[in-house]
Amino acid sequence: MSHGSRHEPVMADLVCELFEPIQEGTLVDATFGGGGHSLRLQQVVAPHVRIMGIDRDPAVGERAAALGFDFIPGDFADIERLLSAAGVENLAGVLFDFGLSSDQLDDPERGFSYHRRGPLDMRMDPGSGLTADQVVNTWDCRSLARVIARYGEEPSSRRIARAIVANRPLADTLALAEVVAAAVPAALRRKGHPARRTFQAIRMAVNDELGAVRTGLEAALGRLEEGGRCVAISYHSLEDRLVKQRFKKGGADCVCPSDLPICGCGLTAELRPLVNGSARPEPAEVEINRRARSARLRAVERLAA
Ligand SMILES: C[S@@+](CC[C@H](N)C(=O)[O-])C[C@H]1O[C@@H](n2cnc3c(N)ncnc32)[C@H](O)[C@@H]1O
Repeated sequence: MSHGSRHEPVMADLVCELFEPIQEGTLVDATFGGGGHSLRLQQVVAPHVRIMGIDRDPAVGERAAALGFDFIPGDFADIERLLSAAGVENLAGVLFDFGLSSDQLDDPERGFSYHRRGPLDMRMDPGSGLTADQVVNTWDCRSLARVIARYGEEPSSRRIARAIVANRPLADTLALAEVVAAAVPAALRRKGHPARRTFQAIRMAVNDELGAVRTGLEAALGRLEEGGRCVAISYHSLEDRLVKQRFKKGGADCVCPSDLPICGCGLTAELRPLVNGSARPEPAEVEINRRARSARLRAVERLAA
């Protein structure tokens, strides 16, 4: 466990192995969280590699400072602007460990937990944007159902959306969890708490998580220097699909027939995969850290232009 945080970094050995060859330059931990990955990386990358943290949760800044890391508060969707403002040009490495930290999840005041009473907030940056309260208590039934179905992959999405609308106003997280649980028929319940998928869906909508992954990943890859490495750990299939598609697109090389004198397709691979497909945590890690169970890690290296 890292200093001042309850969050256990996921697949940290593999993350370290993938970044270890970096000799110099800046390595950005774009989801600093508890700082667990950064602390581990500090032990393996060369001493002349500068590790810099980014996180949209302002509470993380204090932890990063206490641990002695350079830190930029902000959304990694704005990584282009954040790096320019910090005077950073090219990156030797960038790590994304998407989703929430245990510190955020376990703090009832943040409103992420369906086990503890708290405000309907769910913002990673409590200083800005849409709240869960707005989504839950003002969105129309169709929009709610769509988000719960898409981001939560919840088969009872319409039933849940109707129950939410019928029980408004919902005062807090436990009120929401109770309404959702009562709306899911016993026969359709899957493993875990019946409100888990709905909470996940609302959180993803509140923080526009997929939008941030799409924009942030693209911008970060654009900043990678030759030989620079990008590692992304996802916990949701839609998140992982975005990473997979972007890495695949970057790996596409000339598809012209070999007897064609010059390339007509214009494709040149810009990225080289560093793991075969995606890597999953070892069962031993999942046993110790349940939150690792849905993790999928993908990694690429930037090739010469
Ligand atoms: C899974 S935790 C990272 C944990 C970290 N790797 C560690 O070892 O402690 C994800 C972190 O990313 C942050 N985060 C999520 N989306 C973000 C975004 N779009 N921009 C910046 N930070 C984000 C969250 O606030 C959270 O602190």
